[in-house]
Amino acid sequence: MEPVVLSLGGSVLVDEEPDITYIRKLAKILIGISVIRKLYVVTGGGRIARYYIRAGRDLGADEGYLDEMGIEVTRLNARLLITALGDHANHSPPRSYDDAVHSGRLHSIVVMGGVSPGITTDAVSALLAERVRASILVNATSVDGAYTADPKKDPNAKRIPSMNHADLVKLIGSHTGAGPHHVFDPVGAGVLGRSKIQLAIVDGKDLKNLRDALEGKKFKGTLVQ
Ligand code: UTP
Repeated sequence: MEPVVLSLGGSVLVDEEPDITYIRKLAKILIGISVIRKLYVVTGGGRIARYYIRAGRDLGADEGYLDEMGIEVTRLNARLLITALGDHANHSPPRSYDDAVHSGRLHSIVVMGGVSPGITTDAVSALLAERVRASILVNATSVDGAYTADPKKDPNAKRIPSMNHADLVKLIGSHTGAGPHHVFDPVGAGVLGRSKIQLAIVDGKDLKNLRDALEGKKFKGTLVQ
């Protein structure tokens, strides 16, 4: 079965609080797709991770320790999705790529969070895509694709329907100024480029569109190839 990796933004899964209705619907779609594709899902930490990281920083924790706090939250979110998926998924989030590969031999859906300090779950999902030899990674996030500028600040910002990996790296680099909120992690973008893995950036809340992207159909968003 062709593997596909989904990087699921923490803000999509848990905004102010866990979005139960959304998680139920998402689980149903993922179970449906797992019949035709081996699914690997990496969950982000979202707002809750940021709260803990901010509080920990104020209390004097070092950056590596804050990353470990963030990882715990990503794993907590993974457990939430695992709960909704029931017997279709692994029981607890793998803590390494090796364990994820092993879990993929036993389950039709594998859900995990972060792995090691210094990166984000976008990079984890890219590294996982390399390991399981997925040809596409779907990034379900809070925007419906990559834009020429921040669409919340610039009314002239335009969605970029498709680009290559070098363009993505350039775009991410140009956004590193104030308050960076990358459309994709720079480490992850580099990994995708070196292994020529396609990236589909989609609005995670638009479930029909997300399903199309996961099934390899035409979708609304940005395709990096
Ligand atoms: P996220 O992947 O949610 O990071 O992990 P993010 O990019 O800040 O969040 P979004 O995508 O914009 O919502 C949360 C935090 O957990 C730590 C990092 O500190 C990260 O910012 N983390 C996560 C790691 O250190 N290593 C990992 O493998 C994963």
